[in-house]
Amino acid sequence: MNMRILGTGSYVPERIVTNDDLAQIVETSDEWISTRTGIRERRISQGEGTSFMAAEAAKKALEQSGIKPEELDLILLGTSTPDNCFPSGACEVQGAVGASGAVAFDISAACSGFIFALNTAQAFFESGIYKTALVIGCDVLSKIVDWEDRSTCVLFGDGAGAVVVQAEEGKGFRMVMGSDGSRASSMECPSRTNDNFLTGRKPEAGFTTMDGQEIFRFAVKKVPECAEELLEKNGVDREEIKYFVLHQANYRIVEAIAKRMRLPIERFPMNIDRYGNTSGATIPILLDELNREGKLSRGDKIALAGFGAGLTWGAALLEW
Ligand code: ACO
Repeated sequence: MNMRILGTGSYVPERIVTNDDLAQIVETSDEWISTRTGIRERRISQGEGTSFMAAEAAKKALEQSGIKPEELDLILLGTSTPDNCFPSGACEVQGAVGASGAVAFDISAACSGFIFALNTAQAFFESGIYKTALVIGCDVLSKIVDWEDRSTCVLFGDGAGAVVVQAEEGKGFRMVMGSDGSRASSMECPSRTNDNFLTGRKPEAGFTTMDGQEIFRFAVKKVPECAEELLEKNGVDREEIKYFVLHQANYRIVEAIAKRMRLPIERFPMNIDRYGNTSGATIPILLDELNREGKLSRGDKIALAGFGAGLTWGAALLEW
């Protein structure tokens, strides 16, 4: 079964926080942030939670798709910053959009969350279990970064992106996914509820920590490998791919990947300058922008690839 995107949508908070704004709270500068990462500003939640933002993106994707909420079989939300332990964000989205016939659950794979969710929908399509799905990537990283740690807080932003996908007759593309738990400690955000019964302590806030250079090296090696594997598995030549829509973590990572793949940077669209790293939301937000700017035409082949904490990585091929 092939998977076709019928509609896309995205939502970002209104509040813009520039690099100069951050230089007021930590010792940094616009020059350092923009030259090392490509980020100029990001959107930061002013109280909008993950479920709210995910539902707003979902409503736009549904509207564009022409699919009624009650026609959805499946809702998957890729997030590592859900508002609650339970109910899941996906169930809250289901309630907000009125998708009474769907099954809904979250998928946790950090910045690879959207790719993992999309590939899970594709697997359900292949098996014939479901045929119409809403797939969302949404994170509110501002909830879990330490705003006193300049090495992490300047990198992230908040946002949501969604797609409505449907199974259609035809050969589906093969996917790529992987994880390496032995390197889990290179990027972590510890649980806030550990040992509560045993110690009597109140839940403590744990913030995001990251070995930036290790993640950088991992990304520039793993993403090209993953994209090459995707093309090879599907018998598709790299020249047939119109855009490589990659996780937006750092423009230098995207540039290094383009170079390693010996492809022009123009085929790697970016919007990191405006949103920073929105984790699971970067890929669907970028896809929605390309779609709404009229840059995607029927028949275009698009490769998506992401990486993140876990460590996790994944790629998907789509025909528009
Ligand atoms: N402003 C000014 N100086 C800073 C800042 C800042 N915001 N942050 C760090 N520095 C300093 C450091 O303290 C260090 O100073 P020192 O040399 O005196 O010790 C210096 O800048 C260089 O630091 P590096 O860490 O070596 O900088 P680097 O060039 O590696 O860039 C960066 C850091 C941008 C984090 C890079 O390593 C990177 O992009 N890594 C990938 C991170 C990533 O993609 N994370 C997301 C993973 S996806 C997910 O699952 C959410």
